[in-house]
Amino acid sequence: MKYQDFYNESIKKPEDFWKKQAQNLAWYKEPQNILSKKDDGYHQWFEDGKLNLSYLCIDKHIEDGFGGQNAIIYDSPVTNSKEIITYNRLHKEVSKLAGALKEIGLKKGDTAIIYMPMIPQAVYAMLACVRIGVIHSVVFGGFAPNELAIRIDDCKPKVILTASSGIEIDRILPYKPFVDEAIKLAEHKPSSVILYQRHLGADTPGKPYDIDYVKAVSTATPVEAIELESTHPSYILYTSGTTGKPKGIIRDTGGYATALKFSMKYIYGVDPGDVFWAASDVGWVVGHSYIVYGPLLNRNTSILFEGKPVRTPNSSTFWRIIEEYRVKVMFTAPTAIRAIKKEDPEGKFLKDYDLSKLKYQFLAGERCDISTLKWTEEKLKVPVIDHWWQTESGWPMLANMVGVELAKVKPGSATFPVCGYDIQILSDDGAIVEPGTEGFVAVKLPLPPGNLLNIWGNPERFFAGYLERFPGYYFSGDGGYKDKDGYVYITGRVDDVINVAGHRLSTAEMEEVVASHPSIAECAVIGIQDDLKGQIPLALAVTKSGNEIAESVIQEEVVQSIRKKIGAVASLRQVIIIERLPKTRSGKILRKLLRSIADQEEYKIPSTIDDSLIIDEIIHKLKTHKIGKH
Ligand code: COA
Ligand code: AMP
Repeated sequence: MKYQDFYNESIKKPEDFWKKQAQNLAWYKEPQNILSKKDDGYHQWFEDGKLNLSYLCIDKHIEDGFGGQNAIIYDSPVTNSKEIITYNRLHKEVSKLAGALKEIGLKKGDTAIIYMPMIPQAVYAMLACVRIGVIHSVVFGGFAPNELAIRIDDCKPKVILTASSGIEIDRILPYKPFVDEAIKLAEHKPSSVILYQRHLGADTPGKPYDIDYVKAVSTATPVEAIELESTHPSYILYTSGTTGKPKGIIRDTGGYATALKFSMKYIYGVDPGDVFWAASDVGWVVGHSYIVYGPLLNRNTSILFEGKPVRTPNSSTFWRIIEEYRVKVMFTAPTAIRAIKKEDPEGKFLKDYDLSKLKYQFLAGERCDISTLKWTEEKLKVPVIDHWWQTESGWPMLANMVGVELAKVKPGSATFPVCGYDIQILSDDGAIVEPGTEGFVAVKLPLPPGNLLNIWGNPERFFAGYLERFPGYYFSGDGGYKDKDGYVYITGRVDDVINVAGHRLSTAEMEEVVASHPSIAECAVIGIQDDLKGQIPLALAVTKSGNEIAESVIQEEVVQSIRKKIGAVASLRQVIIIERLPKTRSGKILRKLLRSIADQEEYKIPSTIDDSLIIDEIIHKLKTHKIGKH
């Protein structure tokens, strides 16, 4: 099949195209109303269809005779353990946990937070929720109690599912005390916490609201999946925006299932029964779509990896897993490859492993630099596919659709729009720009199935943030350009969102924390280039007049307060104290100028800055602290 024909079909006749794709799922009630508009004017897919994600990911395969197939392979070098979970076993675990949730009073439409490390119970929890129509919100373990509290207050969960601890290579991380602290900080109080004890040595005293996971599951009556409307929210996933408050992206059920099933075949090129590995975390959208729902919907075997690409025990872990489980398609972030490359630049470890089953290596989550792409191609000897998407889309928007037709890889480009995405590059005033001209990356409405339904509890922000900037389009927040052959290149965010080791973070949120330090008058947090993590945050702060606290003390306190209020994942380690921040006449901080200075890119000092000594001081500080490229 030709990509261009398939793509054109999806754009010209979206309803016919997606109706056909939806038929690949076992609906309880097949949709007749394919594309409609809600009262607010926004599109929805398959409005009158009924289905259940948990049924499609588990029960359907058992009914088809594949109960004995491996559904999940849990590999945890950090705890030295491995576990194989068949579809039959997954059914038992999920239907019993769903029963336990039901017994404590959870019902369709309630919300539950899942704050768990990369263990099978996290996957069981997600599937148990969707089995009974409970809307889950998984919170990444690297976020601090304060961030968890913000999410508790926003989605008001009846229950939190957690584990006693996580483990970061060799450090035990106490998850449960974080949950207790978050509940203390939050105004909304969940009625119970279902606690999975890992017995890793970080056990803490119980609380009255605790329910032991194992006990609850062992006595529960298993429950069947219930019929859900296609538009029923399957989950809320918080992501960083341009303000201090994260946005709860709402995902539907039927559109999501249709899109994921489609993507496994046509984007990733995997057939049912194949082994698929997304080395991410269930706390991110990649984990939702390509560790849990996508591969399980497609009856693949999905690898659940608890570890890091390096130091587990060395940088050969990825290759070991590919060989050991005969992985056909792998997905990770470029930063993980850069970490491996740093430890083993020659790729010596690769010689010890048989990677012959690997067919494609996919990369996403951040911009893929050309040297990482080249290194990966050279070492793995398979096509390396950079593809682009975001939490809001839930599945790829730009990709080389290898399941349709493998296009020539052009380094730096995430290739072509995926079926259903009419991607255009727009100028500031909304006109489509010429090939080669950089602009704002937008998608003409309607978005294909699987994309966000709304923002939880904040429809105004949804319309203002995504739909009003360019009427008739969804605005992605990224900048980019198309070349004359139609390849799309993403150049980076055009807002204050940064991407640190494939993790999306808000500089505005960090600024709120930095500015709350008693000695700081004002500040700017910018993302600067980093060889390993792609970007890292840098805080530039001005102290209050009369401040007598030493710079080094303030710097350390700021670093610690970011860890405490946002979490270690923010990776803010560099703070410089300066006399003044460069601003426009109207008082806006010139963040772009600061970024260019830190990254040693070309910049022009605007005439609005009357005193160029500000810039000299910043450069001097960057040099003194050896920050960025200085
Ligand atoms: N729970 C608790 N803490 C976590 C965590 C989790 N799930 N994940 C990360 N952290 C902590 C880390 O321990 C680290 O803490 P520290 O500052 O005390 O050392 C901090 O958050 C930053 O973590 P990270 O950005 O992951 O840096 P790292 O130096 O530990 O590892 C990489 C660097 C590149 C190896 C790692 O980021 C990686 O493998 N990235 C892959 C990217 C990825 O999966 N992206 C998801 C989207 S596809
Ligand atoms: P997240 O919502 O956490 O998945 O982050 C999405 C953002 O990451 C996008 O808006 C981009 O800025 C960036 N991103 C993801 N994939 C790519 C890619 N392949 N190339 C460039 N940027 C990417």
